[in-house]
Amino acid sequence: MQIDIITLLPELLHSPLQHSIMQRAQQKGHLTINLHQLRNWGIGKSKQVDDYQYGGGAGMVLMPGPISECIESLKEKTTYDEIIFLTPDGERYQQKIANQLSLQQNLLLICGHYKGIDQRIRDLYVTREISIGDYVLSGGELAAAVLVDSIGRLLPGVLNDETSALTDSFQDDLLAPPVYTRPASFKNIEVPPVLLSGHDQKIQDWRQEQSLANTEKRRPDLLDS
Ligand code: 6GU
Repeated sequence: MQIDIITLLPELLHSPLQHSIMQRAQQKGHLTINLHQLRNWGIGKSKQVDDYQYGGGAGMVLMPGPISECIESLKEKTTYDEIIFLTPDGERYQQKIANQLSLQQNLLLICGHYKGIDQRIRDLYVTREISIGDYVLSGGELAAAVLVDSIGRLLPGVLNDETSALTDSFQDDLLAPPVYTRPASFKNIEVPPVLLSGHDQKIQDWRQEQSLANTEKRRPDLLDS
């Protein structure tokens, strides 16, 4: 999969995608991430990319020209399955969307800043608008990192048996069960005996039970669906 990201702050995205599973996904060739500095398409000597909003109001808005030219030039090389704008007023991100997007070949992510981007870019190019939660970030970069990480780890070959996504919280609309490692006794708290029993079916049943109990207690909304 190829993910292109348009941003004014590529440095903010560089490091989060350079470690652990994301690093392996790229090294193994499952994932290619290209960061595109919007400033390179800025206007005039000062490489201007934003301006005051029509009608007044605080905050600068990203002008349509530079983003449009950037998108057009990327589209000459790549056909995108989705052009996604990261914005707090977008559709709320969840595992189901990560699963869908992981099946695509080419994604283009646009990170907004300031008060957002000119509406005409959204009308003309954007196919999907996504928010990662009900709070406001200073820009779309951290949200883009969240998308790339959650999608990248689902690509075939990226995870091995040990890191399998099949047992993740949310993958079956349930939270994950508790996990334990050595020692079997720690500060007088014992690992649940069933996990030491070697009895596969009993262990599976216990985990399912714990998942359900965790979900009922913490996220009963997940059980409604
Ligand atoms: Cl995608 N962008 C910004 N700026 N804030 C957010 C967000 C996105 N998702 C939640 N808050």
